Amino acid sequence: MNDNQSHYIPGLEGVVAAQTRLSHVDGEAGELVIAGFPLEEIAPRAAFEEMVYLLWSGELPTASQLEEFRFLLAENSRLPAAVLDVLRAAASTGVDSMEALRMTAGLLSLDLPSDSQGWAQDAALLARLPVMAATWWRLRSGLQPLEPPPGMGLASSYLYMLRGSEPHPAHVRALETYLNTVIDHGLNASTFTARVIISTGSDLVSALVGAIGALKGPLHGGAPGPALQMVFEIGDPDQAEAYLRKKLESGERLMGFGHRVYKVRDPRADVLAAAAETLYRQAGDMRLYELARAVERKALELLEEYKPGRRLQTNVEFYTALLLHGLEIPLELFTPTFTISRAAGWIAHCREQQRENRLIRPQSQYTGPRDRRWVPLEKRTESSGAS
Ligand code: ACO
Repeated sequence: MNDNQSHYIPGLEGVVAAQTRLSHVDGEAGELVIAGFPLEEIAPRAAFEEMVYLLWSGELPTASQLEEFRFLLAENSRLPAAVLDVLRAAASTGVDSMEALRMTAGLLSLDLPSDSQGWAQDAALLARLPVMAATWWRLRSGLQPLEPPPGMGLASSYLYMLRGSEPHPAHVRALETYLNTVIDHGLNASTFTARVIISTGSDLVSALVGAIGALKGPLHGGAPGPALQMVFEIGDPDQAEAYLRKKLESGERLMGFGHRVYKVRDPRADVLAAAAETLYRQAGDMRLYELARAVERKALELLEEYKPGRRLQTNVEFYTALLLHGLEIPLELFTPTFTISRAAGWIAHCREQQRENRLIRPQSQYTGPRDRRWVPLEKRTESSGAS
């Protein structure tokens, strides 16, 4: 056995592979700190642009810095024509939302401010994502795409482009709380992907494309759609137990539950549950919120019964689904909406990695055969191991 074999850790669980000033996840205490701020202190208060500025610079902006930053985002939000063409093709051929984002993210290189112009390139990558997501959705729905209206913040502009009308301030607040809540989360799979790519000396667009690919999987950012579908399929609190038991007995996972790091309740779930409660109360219809709460209670009880000691708790995706649905964001845009926010975190991590770069290059443990001998082509049979 060589040295590496004794160190193999499946899924790199518990391995510390980066140092960061951006966010800290304490999975035992159920705490998330973003650039020094407890999540619950900052997420419901900050505008999304303030949060991005905080991650990119380390400090909250002053009023004039915030205004300048919003202007920088707005002036870099225009999509290259080829992106529109590909979104149109994606929408008409039924390519799903995350594939459309991943495909078109690569095309952003066609028209990008240079990397030496301060934050211009970073701002362009971030500001174009909501336009791409909303454009894909409108084209998919047979509607004309809308450009981001001048003078609107990123969250209100995204809602405007989806709906075609100016959103209510309470909706903007709820969306900003969501975006702030998921902006960064330690060395999650997509952030790790971005850092690995940038550590090779590659560029920000490549890191963005790779990170989108990592985020879209159901074990990471692809869970909120299925979580909401589950709540809808249950439909009535009295049906929750039978439905959830059936899933668990057939070995299925309950979407929106469990986390690699959190062994207590994900603090983001509480922030989003509170925002969802406010939103549904304002709308005057608490039925879906109450149903989701009932499903959550039953799911936690059954997870403890079927998976004792695994400490499976509600994760961020469960209340993401409820909140985004309350904002009338279509299910297909749940993960793209997550992407819009997390991209700000990816960019911050890439810049941090570039400042302190060391190529990320772990090792693998070889488990294959050894001492094999070459068999010439004409003598190979399936039994000689040539299959
Ligand atoms: N439902 C049922 N059982 C589960 C769930 C779940 N949601 N999550 C984990 N388990 C079980 C596993 O089957 C396993 O059981 P076993 O010990 O009998 O084999 C045990 O709990 C431990 O699971 P692991 O796979 O080791 O946990 P891991 O840390 O790899 O997974 C993950 C974390 C991927 C989030 C997992 O909990 C899961 O699949 N959840 C559902 C999908 C989801 O909600 N994804 C969003 C995550 S949040 C985010 O990325 C933003």
